[in-house]
Amino acid sequence: MKRDHVTVYSHSEEETQAIGAIMGRIMTAGDIIGLSGELGAGKTCIARGIAKGMGISRHYHITSPTFTLINEYPGKVPLYHMDMYRLSDSSDVNDVGYYDYLGGKGIVVVEWAEKIADALPAHAFHITIEHCDESGRKLDIEGTVDTIAVLKSKLKEGGLI
Ligand SMILES: Nc1ncnc2c1ncn2[C@@H]1O[C@H](COP(=O)(O)OP(=O)(O)O)[C@@H](O)[C@H]1O
Ligand SMILES: [Mg+2]
Repeated sequence: MKRDHVTVYSHSEEETQAIGAIMGRIMTAGDIIGLSGELGAGKTCIARGIAKGMGISRHYHITSPTFTLINEYPGKVPLYHMDMYRLSDSSDVNDVGYYDYLGGKGIVVVEWAEKIADALPAHAFHITIEHCDESGRKLDIEGTVDTIAVLKSKLKEGGLI
């Protein structure tokens, strides 16, 4: 599957959420987004934006499912939010039920996706977040050629690139 990527700079938490919201609006059931980046990079922040874009009720406060491993948020299309931080190696993904959520009726967002790199399907989006400074972040968003083309046009429309 041919892949492409887009680089986006965020200057605030709000901007990172706005980028996530755009992604949440273009996602469809069965999509999966892997988030990589150190602690405090903004993985949960972008997950909140994705939830908002998907139309998940704003009454849910989305936090890292570090201890629960998976949080489910109901919606027209549900969100399955996972955090692989505590996973020791990729063989454990079976234990957390990761595969049960793939290709299903919901959208899967995985924090610490680098820990399960081999278990991500070919159509997955990969977002790598790097700190630039206190409130600056560089986001590299990689996905299939077609989806990245759509994303680029929406980011342009939103004045984010
Ligand atoms: N541009 C930015 N994008 C995202 N978060 C930012 C940004 N600037 C500052 N922050 C702060 O960085 C932290 C990111 O936390 P969080 O999303 O929980 O990270 P992670 O899930 O990667 O550990 C928050 O405290 C947020 O306020
Ligand atoms: Mg987090």
